[in-house]
Amino acid sequence: MTSPSLPAELKAALDAKLQGVSRNETAARAALISRTYRDGGSSVAIQSSTDALAYALARMPATYAAVAASLNALCEVRPDFAPKTLLDVGAGPGTASWAAVEAFSSLTSFALLDDNAALRALALDLARGSARLGDLKYDKGEAGALLARSESADLVVASYMIGELGEAARTRLAESLWNKTRDTLLVVEPGTPAGYQRILALRRQLLAAGAHVAAPCPHDDACPLSAPDWCHFTQRLPRSRAHMQLKAAELPFEDEKFAYVALTRAPLRGRPARVLAQPVVGKAEISAKLCTTEGLVMARIPHRIKADYVRAKRWRWGDAVMDES
Ligand SMILES: C[S@@+](CC[C@H](N)C(=O)[O-])C[C@H]1O[C@@H](n2cnc3c(N)ncnc32)[C@H](O)[C@@H]1O
Repeated sequence: MTSPSLPAELKAALDAKLQGVSRNETAARAALISRTYRDGGSSVAIQSSTDALAYALARMPATYAAVAASLNALCEVRPDFAPKTLLDVGAGPGTASWAAVEAFSSLTSFALLDDNAALRALALDLARGSARLGDLKYDKGEAGALLARSESADLVVASYMIGELGEAARTRLAESLWNKTRDTLLVVEPGTPAGYQRILALRRQLLAAGAHVAAPCPHDDACPLSAPDWCHFTQRLPRSRAHMQLKAAELPFEDEKFAYVALTRAPLRGRPARVLAQPVVGKAEISAKLCTTEGLVMARIPHRIKADYVRAKRWRWGDAVMDES
């Protein structure tokens, strides 16, 4: 299991970048970038090296934790998956590549691409001293154009990226991402209704193109949720002192809400059900919202069936639940 915390090597590289940088200026830029994101803006606001560092300090821990959680879910369903090559699209400071390195010791080749010069420069700086990411290849340019001449990869990731595109561009990009996927494509988005809708549309489009879902869904059917409900998960992550200072936060942790889909070329058999919300544990029973091969199930596990109750008590939002009947 990949930890939701940034790896020590990355933390050290970020700390080194902070030396001699004005905390106040970085915090002000981070606040502006966060506000831009909240208002539906994009990473276009990130232009200078201070902006890039502010983005990395404010958002990289949370997007890293979301990608790590998604990769954990993928690995649980595909324990045999050992990708050698990674393509990280809209890589920004390299967040998803760092998470993939932790998840897969098999990875030896890393291709990143992004249009943002400041984030690319930061990614190269952060990875410079890394034992495994030191030789990464990072192209600058528009994703669609770069993908057309990219090599295919075993694992393709687009993390917190597709939301920055308009609908038509997103549809085109989904097709290009899939074309470059030799085995598995992972797309992660913020866990908002809009982020979920983007994941849903991409899922629908690529299932029609022959993809299969590895996670989170236990099936390739239409999503059984109906509005205003939306499929999303949450990952708790620790906040470092610098992270707390930057966000003027009091709690030493934050909960990142995210939505994701992992799509594979080969169909999977026996996919586990997925826990879609934190189960409610009562004395008489546990109630849990599950996505199953038969659709959405509100499971009630009575206390009197001891073994099942004890098992269900361990379920957490986002967990895979194997059918043990
Ligand atoms: C919110 S950031 C996410 C960065 C990183 N993947 C992460 O999870 O931290 C979105 C990234 O997508 C990049 N991006 C958005 N649209 C793009 C496009 N059409 N071509 C290339 N990069 C793009 C932005 O430059 C930015 O770095």
